[in-house]
Amino acid sequence: MNVLVTGGAGYVGSITSEALLARGHRVVVVDDLRTGHRDAVPEGAAFVLADVADAELVGYALEEHRVEAILHFAASSLVGESMAAPLDYFDNNVSGALRLWRTALRHGVRRVVVSSTAALYGTPDEVPIPETARLAPESVYGETKLQLERALQWLATTAGVGSVALRYFNAAGASPTRGEDHRPETHLIPIVLEAAAGRRPKVAVFGDDYPTPDGTAVRDYVHVEDLAAAHVRALEILEPGVARAFNLGNGQGYSVRQVIDVAREVTGRDIVAETSPRRAGDPPVLVADAAAARRDLDWTPRHPDLRDIVATAWDWHRANPEGYGA
Ligand code: UFG
Repeated sequence: MNVLVTGGAGYVGSITSEALLARGHRVVVVDDLRTGHRDAVPEGAAFVLADVADAELVGYALEEHRVEAILHFAASSLVGESMAAPLDYFDNNVSGALRLWRTALRHGVRRVVVSSTAALYGTPDEVPIPETARLAPESVYGETKLQLERALQWLATTAGVGSVALRYFNAAGASPTRGEDHRPETHLIPIVLEAAAGRRPKVAVFGDDYPTPDGTAVRDYVHVEDLAAAHVRALEILEPGVARAFNLGNGQGYSVRQVIDVAREVTGRDIVAETSPRRAGDPPVLVADAAAARRDLDWTPRHPDLRDIVATAWDWHRANPEGYGA
């Protein structure tokens, strides 16, 4: 299939582009490089430097490459930042996506797979969390993704759009050639590995008084290559006029302290951890019930073990200490 990948210069988007190419799909990446890296875009993909809201450039890419489906990754994705800059998040994640759908429909593209998030669930009533759980985001970021999913539901019934929203839990790990390079970095695993490498003095543990076994927050870490595989499958099961959503996680929670312990084991390095106040907007526990993805996407994570996830991230970090460079 000819696939347009927005955000294909980013972490999950670039690794999914690799997976699509390996599956024999043709890929055109649209990315404005505001957070992505040109060097992350796989060689076999075409590249268009553009904002997803740019109807002219995106329209050109859709026609030029005879695009049949869109994988939409391009978005702002930090819970804390979204609370400080809500309008930027609505603008980029909601308005930007709506403009993209407008352009897509104008050019006859009605197949989309989008990145969604566990942040839709806020503080869940039940864990592991099924897709049928109450959607009650506690951050602007989560709200923007909920609005995105709702727009796709309406476009399914009104315009025949077929979509799959993939609700990631905590994306982590690396492929042999691509990894996580956010600036500034805010995610736990890369921060812990920077501490292991001696590039930062210590790790701040945000809160140790949560209602969890060791008092630190629990998350479901899922390997980025497993996320990529789910996108490829989602593309293959899209049905016109149907909007679907799937959780992607391993169904196993690890606390912040457990992640740090695993990183000590994997790297063989000392990692200094220091308790700090809670970070605003962080729910105590987020663990996925991903039975629907396993069943309907025939999705079996190949790296469910946290040691393996951390080890792949560590390999990439050691091979690329400066990430994608300047
Ligand atoms: N944490 C620390 N110290 C740090 C960084 C993080 O203790 O220096 C803690 C956080 O408080 C949280 C856990 O480690 O409890 C994981 O934090 P991340 O920042 O790595 O990830 P989040 O869970 O905050 O968010 C990620 C994505 C979101 C997505 C969410 C879904 O960034 O886009 O997973 O679970 F919505």
